[in-house]
Amino acid sequence: MSKYFRCEPVKGTKLIKIFSKYNENLPIEFDCNQRFTILQTFHQEYLDEIQELEVRKDDIWVISQPKSGTTWMLELVWLLQNNCDFETALKVEQEVRVPFLEFCSYVPKERPNSFDEIAKMSSPRIIKSHLPIHLLPKGLWTVKPRIIFITRNPKDTIASFYPHCCTVTAFEGSKEDFVNAIIENKMRHSPFGVQTLEFWQLRNEPYIFFTSFERMKKDLRSVILGLSAFLGKNLDENQMVKLLDHLSFEKMKETRKEKCKKNFFSDNPMCNHISEIKQFKELYNPAKELNFRFVRKGAVGSHKTELSEDLIERIEKWYKKHVDRYGVTAEEIFFA
Ligand code: A3P
Repeated sequence: MSKYFRCEPVKGTKLIKIFSKYNENLPIEFDCNQRFTILQTFHQEYLDEIQELEVRKDDIWVISQPKSGTTWMLELVWLLQNNCDFETALKVEQEVRVPFLEFCSYVPKERPNSFDEIAKMSSPRIIKSHLPIHLLPKGLWTVKPRIIFITRNPKDTIASFYPHCCTVTAFEGSKEDFVNAIIENKMRHSPFGVQTLEFWQLRNEPYIFFTSFERMKKDLRSVILGLSAFLGKNLDENQMVKLLDHLSFEKMKETRKEKCKKNFFSDNPMCNHISEIKQFKELYNPAKELNFRFVRKGAVGSHKTELSEDLIERIEKWYKKHVDRYGVTAEEIFFA
């Protein structure tokens, strides 16, 4: 077993390949005996329950790979669905407003857990997940609720995931070790980037809204308009202006609760997963000081200052092999 599997020495668990238990009704073709995702052993215990979870037609699912701008998108979706209720958004942590489906497969909990929370939520529910198509509830592909998929170019995603894994979980290697683990499909959520290529094939389905971090950075207003149409919501110009302000990097990045209290409508610690990260850290990395900001740099191209030229080149070569198999370019997926 590679050292990368031991880099996150979680009590009683390790990273393993998780395969689907079913293959009927999947919206794209792939071989469930081959397609795996690296997650920890806890996930195996919850697999049946996740795959059998009841899906409602009026659900809204926000799906992504970690570090793709999920939090940013969730904040937008929640506000569109809740008539731009900024006051509640600034008072209640995002993970309370939008449950994270598989949270208990990272941080196992006594019942009631995230599945029970989701089951008892009133409709329409907004649900977050980082799972790939084959591990999501199978009802998604028959019920077809609205699904929003947000992606981000893998170089920036990897640059963002490295500090996350070092601090929040317990990755102890160098950036080079980290990139090697990704290229060798040994990192949590590997095979990295493939989930995007699978959802890319569904991008024209009426129940799917496919977008990218890069599109949100380039023209947030136009993503908001597209998403409002997808969700059947109307925004007036006043709401749009406030929404753009609320979703700005500057307003979302603050993590210090005391600062927020003083300056309530300027800063936003409700979007920095403070409670979830604390639970992760207590389980995975209790010894390390938590010096981590979830909303961190928020830039397109941050890999250029965070990864060496050699690592960038290796990631590009590795990712090109993936996209070539699907006859698409990274440019089309993330930037077009
Ligand atoms: P960086 O680590 O590169 O800064 P996710 O929520 O999927 O884990 O994604 C986290 C990434 O989204 C982080 O990227 C974070 O800074 C960025 N992000 C979150 N809110 C943002 C915002 N309002 N504007 C720009 N980037 C944002």
